Order: sequence, then structure tokens, then C-alpha cells
Amino acid sequence: MTQTTDFLTPARLGRLALANHLVMAPLTRNRAEADGTPTPLMTTHYAQRASAGLIIAEGSTPNAVGQTYPNITAIHTDRHTDGWRQVTDAVRAAGGRMFLQLQHGGRVSHPATTGLTPLAPSPVPLPETIFTPGGHRPAVAPREMTADDVRATIADFAAAARRAVDAGFEGVEVHSANGMLLHQFLADNTNRRTDAYGGSVERRVRFAAEVTEAVADAIGADRVGLRISPASTVNGVLEDDTDGLYAALLARLKGLDLAYLHLVRSGPETGWYRRIRADWPGTLIGNPDLTDLTTEAVTRAAREMLAAGADLVALGRPFLANPDLVERLRLGAPLNPVRDRYFMYVGGADGYNDYPALATQPSSDSIVAWDGARVA
Ligand SMILES: Cc1cc2nc3c(=O)[nH]c(=O)nc-3n(C[C@H](O)[C@H](O)[C@H](O)COP(=O)(O)O)c2cc1C
Repeated sequence: MTQTTDFLTPARLGRLALANHLVMAPLTRNRAEADGTPTPLMTTHYAQRASAGLIIAEGSTPNAVGQTYPNITAIHTDRHTDGWRQVTDAVRAAGGRMFLQLQHGGRVSHPATTGLTPLAPSPVPLPETIFTPGGHRPAVAPREMTADDVRATIADFAAAARRAVDAGFEGVEVHSANGMLLHQFLADNTNRRTDAYGGSVERRVRFAAEVTEAVADAIGADRVGLRISPASTVNGVLEDDTDGLYAALLARLKGLDLAYLHLVRSGPETGWYRRIRADWPGTLIGNPDLTDLTTEAVTRAAREMLAAGADLVALGRPFLANPDLVERLRLGAPLNPVRDRYFMYVGGADGYNDYPALATQPSSDSIVAWDGARVA
């Protein structure tokens, strides 16, 4: 019962040949050591999923103050670089391709986790509790970034990108989505600045643009992707002029020739998706908004994403629960359901590396005789 699916054909991402059009979306799973160094568990996890056309590894902090939660990964010391190299070696040996997401949490951070006061565009606290080593705690007011903080943070992103390449990644994804630091600069409810980084849409996009430009300068634009989530209110961000904001951001970055733009689509189509496609001449990765995680629904969503103009399709939870997602979609086989939310962000191999691959089915003519007797 083989089912041909267009997104399973080979694809290209700049100079990279990909086995298929599917991308494993970045998934924070908190399996790193306390200092952010990747663990052998993570090596197994990513190697299990190497059949994705491209893996974008989970948000990794480019400096200590950017750490969001306990046990998330980092990329700002030699130890981090060496730890990630184990992961990229295993994925490459299994035939996979891998980028690393660079994520600075800004106000999505806590002194109980980092020992530091979070930095953000303005001192507006996250209106939620935040997970720390001691459990959930009320968020604290971040310190407003000075001009020096802005310069140092941009330099940290560039240095982290160099480390990522040194660690064996094909490139990095700059995280400007989901209410993290760059998104906090974009959104007017979290950016109350009156300097060159706040106010008009052109000023609010400046920080995200300068980070992306610095990272592209450090490792080459063809190794750099950018993730955005227009209109998303995750982590309490609110944009007043989504169309104008992203038009300004893309106008500034269009000429850079980045490896890709990665668009998280939240909620029903609102028109901006097609406008962004029209405004972006380069490769577009679309991350559909899945409500149903069955084979049929995931297949339909991936096809719709390509039909709507995406070049590649990113999937998160389907890859989380199915190490052999590509093979399952090829066969039209059922998908493992996502188990126990508890294991998403804590724990060891449970709910992480124990999602089964399809059992290898012996082919009936070579292994089983006509009367069902096992012959091999
Ligand atoms: C457990 C988990 C961790 C996530 N971590 C990240 C992350 O580190 N960076 C990011 O940009 N998005 C993150 N996301 C969002 C996913 O990349 C993706 O956009 C989302 O799951 C929607 O895709 P899906 O419907 O295919 O799961 C995470 C989502 C989940 C479920």
C-alpha cells in the first residue's frame, strides 16, 4: 500500500542536497547537562531522526543570560561545541543534515536558572510563571538592554554561529519567533524603547536584522536561516502592525541571500502568509499549524503547505513521536501518538528515545512459506 507523496522527493537547500522536503522543526527537550552541554541521549535522539531532509536542532543559547529554562542546550563554550560535535557526527554518519537554532530568551528567563537578571528591550515582565530548577516561579522584570548590551548580544550570536559551524552543523537558524528576544524587539508591547531600536516598524526590526546580518557575516549567508512567527502571541508578545512589521523586516533582509526563511503559521490563514511568500524571493520553509497528528492529516498539511508556496515543510510533534516519520508517511502507516506531555521537557530516555520505529516486516515470499511456516 505504497503512497506516493511529493514532499518525499529529493530537495535542495542552497548548496545542500536533501533526501526529501521534510524538516524536523526545532524542539526544546531539556535533555542537556546543567551547563547546556549536549548529552549522549541527544546524540541517539537526533541520529534516530536522521532520515528527515533537514533537522533543525533545538533552540540553543548563545550566552548565559539568554538561557530560557533548565537543561536547555547552549553554544558558547568549548565544552558545548565538543558536545554538539558528537551529535552532528552521529547524524552525518546516519546520512542526515543539521542546522542549529540560536535562541536568546530575553525576558523568558529567570535568575533562579541563570543567576542573572534577564535582559530585554524594555523592563516589561513576562505575564506568566516560568519554569526554573525549583519549579514554576513568577517571572521577574528584565533589565532594559543598553547600547553596549545590544552590541555584545549581537556579537554573541555571531560567535555562537561560528561555534556551530565548528561543531559540524551545516548552518544556523536565528530564532526571531515565539516571543523570544528578537521577537520582543519586534513587538510593540515588549519594546517601549525610544532609541534607534524602538518606535517605528523600521526601528523595531533593526535588532533582528542586525543579529541576522552579523551571523551571516560570520559564517556566510548561505548557512543562515531566520525563523519568524507573524501574529503569534506565544510568550505574551503582541504586534500592532503585523503586515508592516514583517514587510519592513523582509525588505531589509531580502538582499542578504539567506539559506531560508522559516515561517511558523499560527491559526487560520490571515493573508499575511501569502504576502510573505510574495515578498520573499528565497527558500521558504513552512511550519503548518497542526491540530490533528494522524498520517492523513499530516500528509494533507504538508501538501497544502507546498501548494501554498513553501519550498520545504517543517514538522515538530510528528518527528518528536516518530523517529521514522519519513518512512511512515511513505508507507501511509499510522503515526505514534505524542505521549505524556510531562516527558516533553524533563526526563531521560522516557518519552524521548523510546518512541518505536515500525517493526521490520519480513517480506512474505522470501521469509514465510505458502502455508505460513517460517523458513528464515
Ligand atoms: C516540545 C516542543 C519544544 C519546542 N521547542 C522549540 C524551540 O526550541 N524553538 C522553536 O522555534 N520552536 C519550538 N517549538 C515549536 C515547534 O518548532 C513547532 O513550531 C510547533 O511544534 C508546531 O509544529 P507541529 O504542529 O508540527 O508540532 C517547540 C514545540 C514543542 C512541542
